[in-house]
Parts: sequence; structure tokens; C-alpha cells
Amino acid sequence: MAEDFKDKVIVITGAASGLGYALCMRFAQAGSRIAAIDKDEKGLAALAEELTSRGAVNDIFICDVTDEAMVNDTIRDIINKMGDIYVLINNAGVSHISLFQKTRVSVLKKVIDISLFGTIYCTKAAIDSIIKTHGTVIGIASVAGYAPLAGRTGYAAAKHGMAGFLNTLRTEVDRAGAKVMLVFASYIKTNLARNNLNGDGTPMDHERITSGDVMLPEEAAESIFNAVVQEERQLILGETAQASWDLFRSDPQTYEQIMLSFNDYVFEE
Ligand SMILES: NC(=O)c1ccc[n+]([C@@H]2O[C@H](COP(=O)([O-])OP(=O)(O)OC[C@H]3O[C@@H](n4cnc5c(N)ncnc54)[C@H](O)[C@@H]3O)[C@@H](O)[C@H]2O)c1
Repeated sequence: MAEDFKDKVIVITGAASGLGYALCMRFAQAGSRIAAIDKDEKGLAALAEELTSRGAVNDIFICDVTDEAMVNDTIRDIINKMGDIYVLINNAGVSHISLFQKTRVSVLKKVIDISLFGTIYCTKAAIDSIIKTHGTVIGIASVAGYAPLAGRTGYAAAKHGMAGFLNTLRTEVDRAGAKVMLVFASYIKTNLARNNLNGDGTPMDHERITSGDVMLPEEAAESIFNAVVQEERQLILGETAQASWDLFRSDPQTYEQIMLSFNDYVFEE
């Protein structure tokens, strides 16, 4: 029930931009109390101003999710200030677009550290609290979390890892009344494209070439909110994500051919 989210504490990582920002607004609209985590101090301040102007109870927490000690302190701080956590949305993420042979291992590691270890650290710190509230852990994955995506070996490793971690966690916490939901999204119009890394770790700083439908962050946030209300285990978000999910399962080689036809440019970068 949507009304169940009123006054509940919702923790969102990567909250200062794109999908995370839109999720803060959507849960605030439901009357939730928003604990917003990001490493972007300026972005968080702007978010807090907007949330407050909409009358939402909120607090911001500057935190790099790859820093385990900082995550532990932040989650403890959130629980002390705001109470037990009802929903944790592991949303912070970055990708690279570069062939494996042309990508520094440090870049692959950075991408995996944010999406996978960031998720593990936040979930580890919050899980006892979430079990107490019979709440939900959410992971924002991607098509690269269940199928190959050329030029994103590190991103695919991070998102497949996130999916394996959270799908397995569900089997352990389900009996304690906690829920786990994975979101596998295709293209959302956010700052991710500009924040994508080149193989040497520098930001790409230009729009990437996309294939298929492009969702607005607000539309994506609405679908995610509805899926949490419905206690879904998984949300395949976007037409491209759904078509890829179906095709990769039924005919992986045809999926690869079509995916490569859209991503041929990665061989030229
Ligand atoms: N945009 C898409 O097309 C798309 C598609 C599928 C999945 N996703 C996933 O959605 C999530 C949100 O991405 P977005 O598209 O809104 O991108 P975005 O770049 O607009 O936002 C990402 C946010 O994460 C924050 N962040 C990055 N590293 C961090 C760290 N170490 N600690 C704390 N915060 C950190 C950034 O500061 C930023 O505010 C990501 O996990 C991404 O992989 C995006």
C-alpha cells in the first residue's frame, strides 16, 4: 500500500543526480522521510533545498559508498537521527565505455567498487535495521546485470555481481520478513552519460549513443515506486530492457548480434 510509506525512512544512495534525485522526490511525495547519500556535496545541498521546499522531512549525508568505514558511520547516523530504515535504495553508480583491452584495471575496479561494494557496504550496515521494519533492500542494476553489453566489462561485472548478491540475500532474509528487489533498467536520461569513464579513468563528458527507448528519471522513479509498493522481487524497466531480457534468454546469439549492431562504436573509441 502506497500509504504505508508515509513517515518511513527511505535511504537513497547516489541521491544528488538523475534517478536517485527523482526517487527522492517520488518517495517524498508519498510522505516518506528521505535520507539522501551522495559524495556530491553541492548536489546534495540543492536536493535538500528542493525537498524542504516541497515540505518533505529530509537529511543529507555526504558519503563515498566505496569507503566502508564512512558508510558504517553514515548508516548509524541515519538510524540515530531518523529511526530504523524501511527502504534502502542502492543506486549510486558509474559506468565506463571502453574495450577491456584498452581499459585500466583501476577503472574496472572503481566501477565495481561503487556499484557492487557500495551496495554490499550499505546493505551490511543497514540490514539489521531493515529486518526490524520488515523493509526492503533495492539494487539499481541494468541490462548489463543479466546480459552482455560490449564496452562495459567492468559495469557488467558490477551489475551481475549486484544481482547475484541481492538475489542470494533474498533467500536468507525472506524468512525474517525483509524483502529484496532488483531493478534492471535500460536507458534513462540522466547525467550517467557525462559521468561515464574512458578506459584511462577520465570522464567521457559527452552524450553516449543510445539504442531504443529513453526514459525520463521521473518515469523510472514512478515505476520503481509502484514496484516497491507491489512488493515485486524484480522490475525490468524499459522496453529495451524487456526485449533484451526475453531475447537473451531465448536466443543469446541473436541478442549479441543486435546488441553489437547498436554498440559498434565502442570498437572505434
Ligand atoms: N542512466 C541510465 O541509462 C541507467 C540505466 C541503467 C541503470 N542505471 C543505474 O542507475 C543508477 C543511477 O545512475 P544515474 O543514471 O542517475 O546517473 P547519475 O550520474 O546522474 O547519478 C549517479 C549519482 O551517483 C553518485 N555517486 C557516484 N559515485 C559515488 C560514490 N562513490 N559514493 C556516493 N555517490 C556516488 C554521483 O555523485 C551521482 O549523484 C546507477 O547505478 C546506474 O548504473 C542507469
